[in-house]
Amino acid sequence: MGWPYIGETLQLYSQDPNLFFFTKQKRYGEIFKSNILGCPCVMLTSPEAARFVLVTHSHLFKPTYPKSKERLIGPSALFFHQGQYHMLLRKLVQRSLSLDSLKNLVPKIEALALSSMDNWAHHHNNNAHVVNTFKEMKRFSFDVGILTIFGYLDPHLKEELKKNYWIVDTGYNSFPSTIPRTQYQKALLARKKLGKILCEIICERKEKKLVDRDLLSCLLNWKGEGGETLNDDQIADNIIGVLFAAQDTTASVMTWIVKYLHDEPKLLQSVKAEQKAIQKSNEEDNLTLSWNQTRNMPITYKVYLYT
Ligand code: HEM
Repeated sequence: MGWPYIGETLQLYSQDPNLFFFTKQKRYGEIFKSNILGCPCVMLTSPEAARFVLVTHSHLFKPTYPKSKERLIGPSALFFHQGQYHMLLRKLVQRSLSLDSLKNLVPKIEALALSSMDNWAHHHNNNAHVVNTFKEMKRFSFDVGILTIFGYLDPHLKEELKKNYWIVDTGYNSFPSTIPRTQYQKALLARKKLGKILCEIICERKEKKLVDRDLLSCLLNWKGEGGETLNDDQIADNIIGVLFAAQDTTASVMTWIVKYLHDEPKLLQSVKAEQKAIQKSNEEDNLTLSWNQTRNMPITYKVYLYT
């Protein structure tokens, strides 16, 4: 368990985290104790153990996060709460991802995917540099996240959000030092700027009184039975929280899909053929990808399920 309070934090942060976990796992097995960032922890390294905690026995566990991470996301984000407030936010996030909202997003997500692919082809043709799949998938899932959260967003504000979000993202897993100019402190500053930009967007939206179905509208337009509403900080913390929850997770899945397809050339050919047939029929009729078409991609869907 290491030193008091500091525990094994320095060991984890001073080496490749994979090596830290590998050494522990070899010595103590798939479940072991540690103390990281001031939190006594039980580390799980097997899918079965993770399933036990997250699925079959989730009622026995209460989700908590180190304070240093809570400060970067925002203390009012749903992850840090239980009870009524948590249920309310969960309901509002789910509402913003309703079937109707998702159906409307399909052509816009297709446009983002096409523009990303153009970008990669451009890099490739110019021999500019090797494309890092995970980083590119993170960029793509960030853009989809912004679209789902805000609907349309002024490109200047989007750039400002992106710039500061990456600094927070980079600092999230860095050592939470109090020394100025460290990655963690830079991330805290960027988080403050993110809060300001989001307040600007929220004020603008309030003036416009839109009744869209994106996450921002769902959070802004919620009114409790007694007329209570969410304040700007609660809205901002939850927007950053959802962006964070959606981004790395989906980017990892998409990266694994690319890897598996690369390792299985025959399967890759079948997926390509399925996608090209849809693309061809849409090009002939000058159409964009539709929701129904996304429901009718049996080979692609199997790859997604497998991953
Ligand atoms: C393959 C992709 C994804 C994976 C593997 C994944 C995984 C997880 C896991 C394991 C949790 C539980 C975390 C905990 O209890 O500490 C969680 C929570 C959550 N995820 Fe995801 N997630 C994915 C995609 C997304 C997306 C796209 C969104 C966008 C809305 C999202 C939003 C959330 C939210 C809001 C929570 C908190 C739920 C609550 O506290 O009730 N996730 N996710």
